[in-house]
Amino acid sequence: MLIAGNWKMNLMPHEGMMLTHELCMGLSDIPSHVDMLICPPFTHLAQCSLIIENNESQLLIGAQNCHASDQGAFTGEISAPMLASMGMDYVILGHSERRILFNESNDVIARKCHAALKAGLIPIVCIGETLEQRNQGIVNQVVQEQLLSILQHEQIVNHIPAHDIVFAYEPVWAIGTGLAASPEQAEDVHAFIRMQLEEKLGDHASMIDVIYGGSVKPENAKEYFLQPNIDGALIGGASLKAESFLAIAAQA
Ligand code: 13P
Repeated sequence: MLIAGNWKMNLMPHEGMMLTHELCMGLSDIPSHVDMLICPPFTHLAQCSLIIENNESQLLIGAQNCHASDQGAFTGEISAPMLASMGMDYVILGHSERRILFNESNDVIARKCHAALKAGLIPIVCIGETLEQRNQGIVNQVVQEQLLSILQHEQIVNHIPAHDIVFAYEPVWAIGTGLAASPEQAEDVHAFIRMQLEEKLGDHASMIDVIYGGSVKPENAKEYFLQPNIDGALIGGASLKAESFLAIAAQA
């Protein structure tokens, strides 16, 4: 089970450091089959990973984005090798906020995913439909298109058997709205994702974590974790406080 916190553009560095410290302390009460991951803003990564190191904690750390190129004239961007050199474990890619607010296409996300795998990072690729698309009855079609842009990318598929990759199903309408997908709605899409993974990757599909994101809280987390195809959660708001983030992880 992977319990991942996406801090988005929240918390000042000192707050992030305090939260990291609290999580390191709280992690000892979390069952050992649960991996806990934090994804702070870029500016906090060095300090937060130092805290993890100093506490000899198993807490994992990753970034929220990277560029598709390893280096070059891309003002304001951060590359996957730069993140890897800082000891990052994961990188979130293709979050719906990046797709919608920063116009990231499936193709751009696939190129970023390849860059991340090449650098030794584990990409968490976010996929999911908007409310409009759900109302149109095209959830599977949208999710399939997003998924196949990764799974049909030749260089990525060659990397997958040897490297980890995570998919996060995050219905856009459930993010930050308090309107979480029901566990059954989420499981339906997760089962569809698993089927697609099996078709493309065979037996390896069962090794890939598919996690749910969208208004996950301590009160509703357990129901998701009971679903056969849900392998964890990607959490926004509730990952900003140690108490709620640890309370979710304790149920995984
Ligand atoms: P919330 O948990 O705040 O709905 O955010 C989910 C999310 O976007 C995680 O990436």
